[in-house]
Amino acid sequence: MILAVGNIKGGVGKTTLAVNLTIALAQQGRDILLVDGDEQRTATTFTELRTEQLGQAGYTAVSLHGAAIRTQVMQLSPKYSDIVIDSGGRDTGSLRAALTVAETLLIPVQPRSFDIWAVDQVAELVKEAREINEGLRAFVILNGADAQGRDNEESAEALSEIEGLEFLPVSIGRRKAFPNAAATGRAVTEQTPKDSKAVEELAALLSAIQ
Ligand SMILES: Nc1ncnc2c1ncn2[C@@H]1O[C@H](COP(=O)(O)OP(=O)(O)O)[C@@H](O)[C@H]1O
Ligand SMILES: [Mg+2]
Repeated sequence: MILAVGNIKGGVGKTTLAVNLTIALAQQGRDILLVDGDEQRTATTFTELRTEQLGQAGYTAVSLHGAAIRTQVMQLSPKYSDIVIDSGGRDTGSLRAALTVAETLLIPVQPRSFDIWAVDQVAELVKEAREINEGLRAFVILNGADAQGRDNEESAEALSEIEGLEFLPVSIGRRKAFPNAAATGRAVTEQTPKDSKAVEELAALLSAIQ
């Protein structure tokens, strides 16, 4: 699987989900390449911290930008079971390149109106990418979903209506476990004590896209 995690908005959980999914796949015994396509290099910094903390990351990480994402992913894909691309934020060059080689795009969206409006632009990029990458699947999920209130439901309704994207009803709640685990170079699956809701949500997401 070549999975891109992308959105033109920052702070929506792209890196959080990219690293947690990478580690979950590695825990299945798969050989994973994590491509850090964001100039902020958060996934790379996370991987460095993880390597320091655990002795080894359990996956391979590279930092790539723009067109190199396409050429390198095409070249490296036979060597790995899966490639996960954290495709950055405002730098749409990297996101566009990722969309030309990905099989699946995962778009995390927070249940907030500004975030939802931005998804229309992502849908445009997906439409463009499909001209050369016909089979591209594009899934939208809620990340940082609220524990209560109507916002999740209203957001889900709005997101379901965006043409060309599939809304997946496997939301990830706003849970401290994500930043807490990341601060020690870990995925939520590796944390003690374990936040079982976070672990379950991540597993449900992975099986929905795998
Ligand atoms: N499901 C979640 N619950 C709680 N905090 C989250 C969740 N997802 C992301 N975060 C936090 O939100 C912030 C932005 O997430 P990040 O993954 O860096 O977003 P992006 O890569 O899209 O900019 C980080 O501090 C991260 O720990
Ligand atoms: Mg990021």
